[in-house]
Amino acid sequence: MDKIIQVKEILRKKSKNYNNNFQNIEDFIKKEIYEIKKLKQNSENIIPEISFDKLSNDTHSIVKLIKKRGCVIIRDVFDDNRVLELDKSLENYIIQNNYYEHQKKKVGLDNYFSDLKSGKPQIYGLYWSNSQSEIRHSEEMQTVKAFLNNLWIYENDEYKVFDPNRELCYADRVRRREPGDNSLGLSPHCDAGSVERWTDPSYQIIYNNIFSDNFNNYDPFNAKYRDRTIEFESPAVAHVFRTFQGWTALTEQGPKDGTLQLIPIAKAMAYVLTRALLDDVPENELCGSKVGKALSVNETYHSLLLEGLISIPKMYPGDTIWWHPDVIHAVEDIHLGKNYSNVIYVGSTPYCKKNLDYIKNQSKKFLDGKSPPDFAAEDFEVNYKGRVTEKDLSLLAKKQLGLIDWN
Ligand SMILES: [Fe+2]
Repeated sequence: MDKIIQVKEILRKKSKNYNNNFQNIEDFIKKEIYEIKKLKQNSENIIPEISFDKLSNDTHSIVKLIKKRGCVIIRDVFDDNRVLELDKSLENYIIQNNYYEHQKKKVGLDNYFSDLKSGKPQIYGLYWSNSQSEIRHSEEMQTVKAFLNNLWIYENDEYKVFDPNRELCYADRVRRREPGDNSLGLSPHCDAGSVERWTDPSYQIIYNNIFSDNFNNYDPFNAKYRDRTIEFESPAVAHVFRTFQGWTALTEQGPKDGTLQLIPIAKAMAYVLTRALLDDVPENELCGSKVGKALSVNETYHSLLLEGLISIPKMYPGDTIWWHPDVIHAVEDIHLGKNYSNVIYVGSTPYCKKNLDYIKNQSKKFLDGKSPPDFAAEDFEVNYKGRVTEKDLSLLAKKQLGLIDWN
């Protein structure tokens, strides 16, 4: 707690007047929120969208919008029928291997989201099913991720942060929400560090322009030092650098189907960071953010930002959604739809030392069929039938999993 008091002092001193600095940032956010609300009123697209087959065209105007909103929907990455088959295959994997019985016995290991108001979502601790592997290591996904990684400034005067065209795959979980589920949403948050965003020396450099009255020059897509942040140890905090978090829809799902919500403002983190320095926040607190938990965005301190929270539009099987690691997101509390709303999480984790270090550890877990290092060690899949093993992998998949060198 003393650390927070100290760090606030250091960060406040970066500005001539931290109240004015916050005010300036708040004015910017107000304009963004106004724009979002206006588009919503007119039922216009808020999140930029592009179809997979247009990724190689001139994307200049959409790139500008992606950088402003910090998110993008890339549609039709996979054919509908292929994805529906993968969804079915995943369901079989779950049922044949008696996942529900195993899961009941291990509840409680994963407490990352336990402080978020809505409790634990319907997220499955499965990583190595054929369906996940096929999507994760597909050529289509490689193309999408190269597009996304290339939106970043990945080289600077000091070093090359990452290689945008070589991907290392971060194995993540599956979300399957059954119709009528009303208790398992996620309140607004950010991953990739909570308290660290103020206290970690690399984050302090990343966000230096924000704290030092230079918000206009802050570029959330400058990757410098993003690969060097060090997170506090916690059972479920990502220890990789993701250019984007994301998922692929396995089923049709839209607003009110228990889907994803975003605050589509790439620079919203500036508001969260500088808000915590104001005098109405207890000196030893950071607006509700706690070590080892997701960064909290709440009514008490961030009501303005929450006005910009929108549900993503209807997604169809094979569509993908991507959001910048600083973009605040949530999952709707209630699933009022009639069908399962299922997604496979696949983030974008380009080749860099931080990701390679993680992937090497992850590959050991993969070979044993265990849960990846970032997640609770539930290890459900060790003896599962149909689990993907090394012999099932393509050359690309082996490179992406760090089993052979990427050259
Ligand atoms: Fe999240």
